Amino acid sequence: MVVRVGIVGYGTIGKRVADAVMRMDDMELVGVVKQNPDYESEVAVRKGIRLYTYEDKVDKFERVGIKVSGTVDELLRSVNIIVDATPDGVGAENKARFYEPMGLRAIFQGGEEAEVAEVSFNALANYDMAIGKRFVRVVSCNTTALTRLISAFLLHGYKIRKVRAYIVRRGADPREFKKGPINDVVFNPATVPSHHGPDVMTVIPSVSIVTMAVAVPTTIMHLHMVNIEFDGLVSRGEVIKVLEETPRILLFNSSSRKFESLAQVIEWARDIGRPRGDVFENAVIEDSVTVFQNELFLMQGVHQESIVVPENVDAIRAVMRLMDKWSSIRKTDEVLGLITEGKNYALA
Ligand SMILES: NC(=O)c1ccc[n+]([C@@H]2O[C@H](COP(=O)([O-])OP(=O)(O)OC[C@H]3O[C@@H](n4cnc5c(N)ncnc54)[C@H](OP(=O)(O)O)[C@@H]3O)[C@@H](O)[C@H]2O)c1
Repeated sequence: MVVRVGIVGYGTIGKRVADAVMRMDDMELVGVVKQNPDYESEVAVRKGIRLYTYEDKVDKFERVGIKVSGTVDELLRSVNIIVDATPDGVGAENKARFYEPMGLRAIFQGGEEAEVAEVSFNALANYDMAIGKRFVRVVSCNTTALTRLISAFLLHGYKIRKVRAYIVRRGADPREFKKGPINDVVFNPATVPSHHGPDVMTVIPSVSIVTMAVAVPTTIMHLHMVNIEFDGLVSRGEVIKVLEETPRILLFNSSSRKFESLAQVIEWARDIGRPRGDVFENAVIEDSVTVFQNELFLMQGVHQESIVVPENVDAIRAVMRLMDKWSSIRKTDEVLGLITEGKNYALA
């Protein structure tokens, strides 16, 4: 079966998911919804992507010579599933306005409240819970990274007593020009826990996690400083092995390979030819991995613009019952060019 996919919201996340869907042989990108005939609309048309817009906006596109293939209603009537990648909160409005009344299936993003969907999703953690569901939410970039890291250990049979994570958030995405901070550290939020910990628990309810977050003037990546306390002793060697063999987690060595900053992780992605310099994997800094008895400490970089892209592809497969968990994760990783060498695609 080839699943017909529509994407509503063609921004940072939507355009990357669109590219990923176009590369999958079990999916067809029917079209994307745009509201404005801007440069992104023009690039989409150049790539052969069909654009759809709201009925009252068709004229706006035609006036500037950007071809529209139809209205939002027409797109929604011709797809099996929608990926909604609109700004925070708009997905819930779209659900009530379109997807529910039209009987459509939809994947939402992490900016929506958990209640928008039946399942908050991460492929490593709970793929099976999304199978056959109608509404699934792919959790945010920070939550995806934390959930993957915790899942790596749970999938290897470790018992976790508690997790504490300190998140240094990027101030804005590279394309955003209206947002700060410019010269500041913003308590983002000042409350403890930040929303990330409770959000991880929407995917892995059994984990005890507290997070704190600030935002800084950078656009490239988030940085997490994570402390995991296990039920029992662990060794650094075991931890490295878990991280090496878990899909979607990569180790970057600062002493031997000279990865001394997150900018160099992005440069690596550009050098190996990743589209837009995307880093789909958790970028764990190998030298930071330190174990004291039953406690693990590490730092990881999180490429906010792309980390959720593989999960969106897997969420489509789960909802559409296309494939089992590990077949989907492996296929997504191979097609999108994630590092698959040494990875175990048959973890428990
Ligand atoms: N960026 C990140 O770091 C990141 C990471 C993980 C998850 N997320 C989540 O992913 C979702 C999307 O975020 P994003 O960063 O991709 O946002 P974005 O870059 O602002 O893109 C959203 C796009 O949606 C379109 N849009 C706005 N209102 C719309 C509407 N009513 N109907 C259809 N399209 C509409 C906008 O373009 P037009 O108005 O021109 O159509 C815009 O390009 C959010 O839930 C966010 O929390 C973001």
